[in-house]
Amino acid sequence: MCGIVGYIGKLQASDVILKGLHKLEYRGYDSCGISLFNENIDDFILYKDKGRVNHLQDDFNYDFENHLGIGHTRWATHGAPNHINSHPHASVSGRFVVVHNGVIDNYKELTAKYLVGYSFESETDTEVIANLIESFASSYDVDIAIRKTLALLEGSYALLVIDTRNPHIIYAGKNKSPMILGKRADGICLASDLMALVGISDEYYLIEDKTFVKAVKDESGYAFEMYDPVGIEFCPVRNEVHLDTEEINKGGFPHYMLKEICEQPSVVRKIISNYAPDGKFIIDKEVLNLFANKKRIYILAAGTSYHAGLLGKVYFEKISGIPTEVFVASEFAYNKPILEKESVFVLISQSGETADLRACLVDIKKLGYQSLTITNVKTSTLAREATKYLEIFAGTEIAVASTKAYVGQVSVLVIIACVLEQDNKCSLLTEMGRLAVAMEAIIDRRDYIKELIKTRLLKRNAFYIGRGIDYFTCLEASLKLKEISYIQTEGFPAGELKHGTIALIEDGVPVIAIITQKHINKNTRSNIQEVKARGAEVIVISMNDIKESDDDIVLMDVHHILSPILAVIPTQLITYYKALDLGRDIDKPRNLAKSVTVE
Ligand code: M6R
Repeated sequence: MCGIVGYIGKLQASDVILKGLHKLEYRGYDSCGISLFNENIDDFILYKDKGRVNHLQDDFNYDFENHLGIGHTRWATHGAPNHINSHPHASVSGRFVVVHNGVIDNYKELTAKYLVGYSFESETDTEVIANLIESFASSYDVDIAIRKTLALLEGSYALLVIDTRNPHIIYAGKNKSPMILGKRADGICLASDLMALVGISDEYYLIEDKTFVKAVKDESGYAFEMYDPVGIEFCPVRNEVHLDTEEINKGGFPHYMLKEICEQPSVVRKIISNYAPDGKFIIDKEVLNLFANKKRIYILAAGTSYHAGLLGKVYFEKISGIPTEVFVASEFAYNKPILEKESVFVLISQSGETADLRACLVDIKKLGYQSLTITNVKTSTLAREATKYLEIFAGTEIAVASTKAYVGQVSVLVIIACVLEQDNKCSLLTEMGRLAVAMEAIIDRRDYIKELIKTRLLKRNAFYIGRGIDYFTCLEASLKLKEISYIQTEGFPAGELKHGTIALIEDGVPVIAIITQKHINKNTRSNIQEVKARGAEVIVISMNDIKESDDDIVLMDVHHILSPILAVIPTQLITYYKALDLGRDIDKPRNLAKSVTVE
């Protein structure tokens, strides 16, 4: 994953880069580093270490003139998160310095072919890149040396390179991993994500795969050059962005996760106003055409978005009557099933950058299928590369735990399913308005959940059980609890527990049951009795119309098909408060990153 930021311009480079790295820390945060041209000593400095950007910012000295630099925040792939493996990485002589996001699949082969006898400091694939450039630079111009290196790399990369002999240029290259270029009159910023440009530049350019870029300072000021894979210079399309700085602040909440949980009713309202501006759900005609005469829908996604996809299958089949299959992207990419010819692919991704999904998209395009990406980031790779995209309007999601994006994804899936329904009988618009109110009601009672989990969720492991669509909420709830609190949690179909897993139930093991559907109420309640009889500490989440007197969390009634969007909220709150109790790093849980840009 990793976040990269480079800057050349009139501003103090360390300010721009450190601010940018803070904003990109969601991409990885186990170590970080920076290289800057120190004008006072006419030389480059390099600071890096294990730990967060705060450490890089507070514990090193930036009290010198610097107007060019590159920085990195890492999610470890090759080698442990330690000082040596942190980026930037320098070539053996120290001449070339590189930051890299991605994974070079053939770095060992390249080492064996071109770098025999080199001794590497780190375990990273990035150091190989720095040294390849250096070895080619002994026979070629720097531009050619870098382009020759880029041509040899297999895998994913977004790279920034500096030649310490020339403090007037930052070189960049990219394939599969994201990178954008922000331009202002007095400088240029290169970064993994638009967020790093907040407060720096509204004008930006998307960098396409295999493009080679130079950001240069010359007599006339700051300019950039972009070259296609055969070396022909081209003019990229200029874009503008107005990022809302409010959106990326915590707004008085102690954590982004809690802020984002609390924003969910307004996400649903925003979706309604965007997809039903005139009191009726509307979807772009060209998007609808993707589904015309299709016999099957394939949904691909990862993690939480996959769980949204499972609900998407229910909606497409039950509301629109179109057979639908859902796959985990990393599995689909390399274990494809037999595909129906007349079908369309729906890719679901909050970030729009998930590498597993991108690998699928490349493949399905080759096979001639059309695709729709449902995403929160309309400028993302998956939005750009799919045939069409739809936005979920959740606003920037910063906490690693996906909450409001999930609610946005599921809501948009409901809307597409309704619009695709032939007889136009689906009348969920008013129901969605009611849903937003019910969501507010449970969020308002969050202190009750905070207290509840203090005495009821005390073990190292836990279970969520439910049937039908509640089972999908259980999967999402359990992912969230393990991801943020590190309690080992499994989501199980309630009736399946007795076929093996019930062996794990003993005194005090928490079992959280979700019951939102009348037709399976009695069945799930029998399963609750089975685990209670074996000592489980049961917490029941139910709906008002099917509640029993000792149920713990009772939700306002909403349309049964929308209940997963409501029932997930108490589970998010359970996760949040449990993680808080355990003193976890809520917005940045260990070993994770927000945007998973490596396969
Ligand atoms: O950006 P995406 O929706 O494609 O990300 C997919 C998963 O990595 C993501 O949902 C992950 O599971 C979340 N951290 C879960 O909270």
